[in-house]
Amino acid sequence: MAETPKPAASQETVVTDTPAAPKAKPAAKRAATRAASGSASAAGKEPSAAKKATSKAAGTKTAATKKTTPRAGSAAPATKKPTAAAPKAKAAPKPKAAAKKAAPKTTSPAPAKPAGARMTKAQKEAADKIFAERLARHHDELRWLYMELYDNGDMFAELCDQMKRFFDERSAKLKELDAQREAAGAWYRASDMLGMQMYIDNFAGTIKGVEEKLDYVQQCNVNYLHLMPFLDTPADKSRSDGGYAVSDFRRVKPELGTMDDLAHLADECHERGISLCMDFVMNHTSEDHKWARRARAGEGEYMSRYFFVKDQGVIDRYTRDVPQVFPTTAPGHFTYLPELDQCVMTQFYPYQWDLNYRNPRVFNEMMYNFLFLANQGMDIIRIDAVPYIWKQLGTNCRNLKQVHTIVRMMRMIGEIVCPGIVLLGEVVMAPVEVVPYFGTVEKPECHMLYNVTTMATTWNTVACRDTRLLRSQLDAVFGLPREYTFLNYLRCHDDIGWGLDYGTLSAWGMAEVPHKQFLNDYFCGIAPGSVSRGELYNADPVTGDARFCGTTASMCGIEAAGFEGDEAAMDVAIRKDIMLHAYMFTQSGLPIIYSGDEIGQVNDYSYKEDPEKAADSRYIHRGAFDWGLTENIEKPGTIQQRIFSALAQLEDIRRTEAIFGAEAEVCTKDYSDTSILWIVRRASGRELHAVFNFSDDAKTVWMPETATYTDLMSGTTAEVTTVDMPSWSFIWMLK
Ligand code: GLC
Repeated sequence: MAETPKPAASQETVVTDTPAAPKAKPAAKRAATRAASGSASAAGKEPSAAKKATSKAAGTKTAATKKTTPRAGSAAPATKKPTAAAPKAKAAPKPKAAAKKAAPKTTSPAPAKPAGARMTKAQKEAADKIFAERLARHHDELRWLYMELYDNGDMFAELCDQMKRFFDERSAKLKELDAQREAAGAWYRASDMLGMQMYIDNFAGTIKGVEEKLDYVQQCNVNYLHLMPFLDTPADKSRSDGGYAVSDFRRVKPELGTMDDLAHLADECHERGISLCMDFVMNHTSEDHKWARRARAGEGEYMSRYFFVKDQGVIDRYTRDVPQVFPTTAPGHFTYLPELDQCVMTQFYPYQWDLNYRNPRVFNEMMYNFLFLANQGMDIIRIDAVPYIWKQLGTNCRNLKQVHTIVRMMRMIGEIVCPGIVLLGEVVMAPVEVVPYFGTVEKPECHMLYNVTTMATTWNTVACRDTRLLRSQLDAVFGLPREYTFLNYLRCHDDIGWGLDYGTLSAWGMAEVPHKQFLNDYFCGIAPGSVSRGELYNADPVTGDARFCGTTASMCGIEAAGFEGDEAAMDVAIRKDIMLHAYMFTQSGLPIIYSGDEIGQVNDYSYKEDPEKAADSRYIHRGAFDWGLTENIEKPGTIQQRIFSALAQLEDIRRTEAIFGAEAEVCTKDYSDTSILWIVRRASGRELHAVFNFSDDAKTVWMPETATYTDLMSGTTAEVTTVDMPSWSFIWMLK
């Protein structure tokens, strides 16, 4: 690769947020990079100008100095063979049978210590070899991509030094887990994996509170816990975007606890076979982040970490070419800062400043933050809003190829330092844009992606009682390589955007705008026959577009039936809720339950009384977890007991029946009635017929042949020709 390394000696002092590695580097080396970020002083330029300024500074350096070999970056040439055998990885232990209530622990595990703390010389050498091998495996490609983007050998060398530092600091326990997971392969694809997504404050007040509630988590059979954003954000909720405006990537929000509490929780979770997922908000920082504060004070070094624009023409071009994220609650792409008489790019809320990944200092520092968090014991890193991270004037600033370069680099950095970590991409885009984030089988990017179109299409099916669009969506997903693992969900903390396949729908006579209008009317409970309750989100008067907010239970009719005291309607609503979960569990991938759904929690309208939340209707489905309701789980006939025990049964079957394994072949089956969805799973000569009645009427379905089937829900085995299915019910028939 035609890249010229730059000796460090001639450069300015490093401006890094990460303290120097424990082993002191020679001064010349430490001085590596400012020119890079510093080129940085591209501040005030529009993005492409900033890019030029960056390369220009690097170019100047190159011209002024002689070629040398970069140290850390090339320290592990791909051909160099280790001399001693690396310790053999052990087979992954099966996560503890989560279904069984774990006895409450009386003693807590000691917080993990850095691996180096008690190492003998031989152990240290063995660890160094492991790192060298992993680096060697990825070095050339990583360096290639890095240089392609940044053309800066010093910054690359710094990145490699820091990777080693984070590896050295990684605890022995986490390294052991890495080894187990490397040996196990795609551990997150096992059919006993079940996730739950929750807000720490809503669920248990604090991180310590969550730790105290882990028995309940296990009672829910959950072994993957997504803790919603908990890093420091402005205390004023109207400037925190539910935690997605991070002001410090190394500090936990004080009211939730500390980093030590987090590491302790992670340790305890690992003892119980639970993995932890957290959000890594890469696209932007809060305006309260120290970089943003220094940028606001006019420091060029920090201004170059964001996008500052003075030229109205540039702003107009972005406005023309880039779709709005929050057209109603936060219109526009830039926010004017009077103190600088300039605008800063803010694609999300005005207090969320978009980071400038053209600046290698931003990339490096964010990677150090990622590794720091991984070392606290996080297992799954959810890369928030990833399609947005690279901006290019003249494009729609979504899914640009540089985004994929960055994600690929992140994947390799993770595999070098902490290979047990899973990257989960939040790509809320059309399917054709989503799948490329898996990368290729040889050069993978994300390990997992949200199955967002399937989720939206599922609710479309609920409203329309027509499974055709869902079938074509599911077949597209089922046809993908099995290595591609989707995270399946019914609801999450965000709104539902109606990102459906409108090409197909319009061919069937359903135009986009009126169809979205119908869906929103249906789910808001306005359309005739609707049992759903909820609210619109970001209704855009210009495009006629609007998204929707509400909990699964409210969307299924549990709220309306409860309010009206209509028992028959409640039966149907509960059946619908359970059927949708069964359908989610039928798919391959990782199912995630939204905390509260396991007890049918309905919309919470109290956010309207809180001035810091009132403007954001997503809070309707972000209510506090109602612990009082959990007391009903054991009381037969209650809503909570009916839903909770049905989900427990489904989870148990999914975990124990081999037909649900990730390797099964899955497809949909043609059926004459379009309100019936039929999914077939095949593995080891067995066949599961999973049939779902998406209609208000009872149906009699004909099995493909008269044969002996086991009804997995009732456990009865019999010769079956037809099955009577009540409205909104399902069957799991194993042949
Ligand atoms: C993601 C989050 C969403 C947040 C946005 C901005 O899409 O899911 O809640 O508003 O990122 O960070």
